[in-house]
Amino acid sequence: MSNPVIECIESRRSTKYYDADAKMTDAEIQELVRIGTTAPTSFHLQNWRFIAVRSHEAKARLSPIAWSQPAITEASVTFIVVGQMADSSVIPERLAPLVAAGVMPEAMVPEWEIPARDLYMEYPQRQRDEAVRSGAIGATAMMYAARSWGLGSTPMIGFDAEEVAREFGLKRDEFPVMLLAVGKERPGNWAQKPRRPVSEILDLV
Ligand SMILES: Cc1cc2nc3c(=O)[nH]c(=O)nc-3n(C[C@H](O)[C@H](O)[C@H](O)COP(=O)(O)O)c2cc1C
Repeated sequence: MSNPVIECIESRRSTKYYDADAKMTDAEIQELVRIGTTAPTSFHLQNWRFIAVRSHEAKARLSPIAWSQPAITEASVTFIVVGQMADSSVIPERLAPLVAAGVMPEAMVPEWEIPARDLYMEYPQRQRDEAVRSGAIGATAMMYAARSWGLGSTPMIGFDAEEVAREFGLKRDEFPVMLLAVGKERPGNWAQKPRRPVSEILDLV
């Protein structure tokens, strides 16, 4: 049942060793984010933002507040995947391009906005959970897109969230979901790690 998409998914691994001389162009970085943001989000909220840390100066600011992980200085770019607390009031604005493109009838907009308001408005934990889901799904799409280009990637939780938010000017309703390094691998990376057996993790009900 294999095909190029499945091969791409199955062969991804977290990169430990990057070629520090390899650069990605800003156009490549922009394209990776564009592809990543075709990932789904609840109510089409698109409650994310990406800070591409790719200059020497910006990497030097991020590294000490991210456990000095070598990927930050050696990968071409490390994205700060920023989650935005789910806020239903942005829904009309987010859906307007769908209405304009004829994908969704205008009359349906309140049918999305009202349940979203009921789901999130009084529930900060849900707002935050949604931001984590969106950021994680978007970052995942970027990892596989990078893999399809022959690039390595490393999702990272090893950072000081408050320091990253302060240093990179995140707003009050934003927080760093994860860091995602992307770049050319150098030799010596680990092979894909074996997984828990499906029989242990799947309930067929
Ligand atoms: C949310 C998340 C956070 C992670 N944080 C780090 C990290 O800070 N540093 C690191 O080297 N690897 C990090 N990893 C990589 C994991 O160790 C790796 O995904 C896991 O061992 C499975 O290996 P694989 O990605 O090569 O399949 C993280 C992975 C995820 C999904």
